[in-house]
Amino acid sequence: MRKISLTGIKPTGSLHIGNYFGAIKPALELARDYEARYFIADYHALNSVKDSKELTTYIREVAAGWLAAGLDPEKVVFYRQSSVPETFELSTILMAFTAKGLMNRAHAYKAAVQANNEKGEDPDAGINMGLYTYPVLMAADILLFDTDVVPVGKDQVQHVEMAQDIAGAINFNYKKDLLVIPQALIQESVAVIPGLDGRKMSKSYNNYIPLFAPEKQLRKLIMRIVTNSQTVEEPKDPDTCQIFALYKLFANKEEQEALAARYRAGGMGWGEAKEALFQVVNRELTPMRERFEALIADPAGLDKTLKEGAEKARSIASRTIARLRKAIGIDY
Ligand code: TRP
Repeated sequence: MRKISLTGIKPTGSLHIGNYFGAIKPALELARDYEARYFIADYHALNSVKDSKELTTYIREVAAGWLAAGLDPEKVVFYRQSSVPETFELSTILMAFTAKGLMNRAHAYKAAVQANNEKGEDPDAGINMGLYTYPVLMAADILLFDTDVVPVGKDQVQHVEMAQDIAGAINFNYKKDLLVIPQALIQESVAVIPGLDGRKMSKSYNNYIPLFAPEKQLRKLIMRIVTNSQTVEEPKDPDTCQIFALYKLFANKEEQEALAARYRAGGMGWGEAKEALFQVVNRELTPMRERFEALIADPAGLDKTLKEGAEKARSIASRTIARLRKAIGIDY
């Protein structure tokens, strides 16, 4: 039997190239060797997206993004979290085995408390229970599908470890391997994608390049990448330059070597490096952008694909829930 890979993306904004190289692309590569279950974590997004139109837009964009990037819904079980109600039943079961203290230690919750403390506000200001119990819902996403590996970024490793803890507590209590213990899988080489300002590309830093930006906007954003004040004549170091770091993601070996030589020789200005970057980014993203636009233009088709995926997901999920309901004594 093939092992199971599962991951989700929270639809809290438009996809950017950090999501693509950090999450989508490695997950799709994994889908060649694993039984893959990839989904849209829409109830996780509700914690922060409270505008209904915005949430719907982001859900459709993330769905179309996965498909435009090459997800084949015939091979990958592809669905929305909200279409699998078993997730929420499992989440309730998991709550009874989750120490409150474990949630207190979650990085995202701790960061929110710290930000409040720094502003001199009440420690829990603006923190809802969805954020506080986020790791439990995520554990339910994972454990529901007997997941072996969870391809995620470094920031999510703690959540996967919490899923391990919770599953372990249940298995221990019932003296049975009821739940599969999942492992996080991080692709080190693509773990951090630099943003326009050199920090990690992230929606919260507003330093990202949208994955499906129209060509004109794409060029504009690339031209906005922050550079140092080296003159055109000066030789430059490709290995410490974020333009080059991004270039490496899109260019082949020969192109990388040629541009690195241009850096080292001197006589190349930042404008030239950015133009070279734009060319390779646009080359890779154009076909994807065209697929994305076609998918977004057909919401009924998109919803149909997601509905079919949800049916497959539910048939797996209902077996896990039946197994658990029996084991805990709710069904007898
Ligand atoms: N928390 C993940 C993120 O913010 C999204 C997510 C929700 C997820 N459920 C998951 C990822 C289950 C992997 C597995 O990126």
